[in-house]
Amino acid sequence: MTDHILSEVSGGVLTLTINRPDKKNALTRAMYQGLGDGIDRASEDPSIRCVLIQANGDIFTAGNDLGDFAAVNSGDPQANQAREGGNPLLAALARAKTPIVAAVHGRAVGVGVTMLLHCDLVYVAEDALLTTPFVNLALVPEAASSLLLPARIGHARAFSMFVLNEAVDGKTATAWGIANAAVPAAELRAKARAAAEAVASRAPTAVQATKALMRDPAAITAQMEQEGRIFAAQLRSPETKEALTAFAEKRAPDFSKVA
Ligand code: COA
Repeated sequence: MTDHILSEVSGGVLTLTINRPDKKNALTRAMYQGLGDGIDRASEDPSIRCVLIQANGDIFTAGNDLGDFAAVNSGDPQANQAREGGNPLLAALARAKTPIVAAVHGRAVGVGVTMLLHCDLVYVAEDALLTTPFVNLALVPEAASSLLLPARIGHARAFSMFVLNEAVDGKTATAWGIANAAVPAAELRAKARAAAEAVASRAPTAVQATKALMRDPAAITAQMEQEGRIFAAQLRSPETKEALTAFAEKRAPDFSKVA
């Protein structure tokens, strides 16, 4: 397990803490694996009644590591091979049996937002900012978010988030139904922890059955596969090359040059 994901169990709650603050908690392959392993472990261990995902540092996560995207875009065989295996976090979220609570502070970018659509309770800091800049990078939504986000907040809002990278603050995320509550940042961890403990105290079979009744893993997996095919093609495209080069050069991308 990578030390960029910290794992701790107490009171029936498995806490997974994203811990790569120097890179804004950008998620590498090893970190996806660590988060996915934690979620799978909870499904198999009856003493774990709830999973809590939170983050150290000043933001929740800057999303996928852009260096990993760039390696695939440039044709790096190792990066390509790793991607072919699928994303272990997304697979674990799709099959998760144990309830998941998230505590989101600062910025949540890309998969940092789309993973929330698989969580059962979400608490955000009032001043949190949620963005999904997939199209900014010439990519497409993932984690079945092209299905789940419009279902949650409506097509127009979801399209604006995906295509125009509209930033959604904590209070708006709550009003739109992405989060349960927006709280002052200083109170966020305690609020999420209390919610996780409350879930853990309930009748475990009834809790898991309720979660299962509310989800459609087959539809989620099918959408993830469809998204994954288009995402993989775009990731290797000239459009994404321009977007990643622009990010590295700290300039705006110019898509007028690509066909
Ligand atoms: N992948 C890899 N490294 C990342 C990263 C990412 N997604 N996001 C930030 N970092 C790194 C930066 O390269 C920088 O590293 P350095 O100190 O070695 O130069 C460090 O984290 C700090 O980032 P910086 O951009 O200076 O922080 P900021 O506070 O000004 O801005 C963000 C924070 C999240 C707004 C900004 O980093 C950002 O937009 N990141 C990219 C988000 C993204 O597009 N993710 C993919 C979504 S699909």
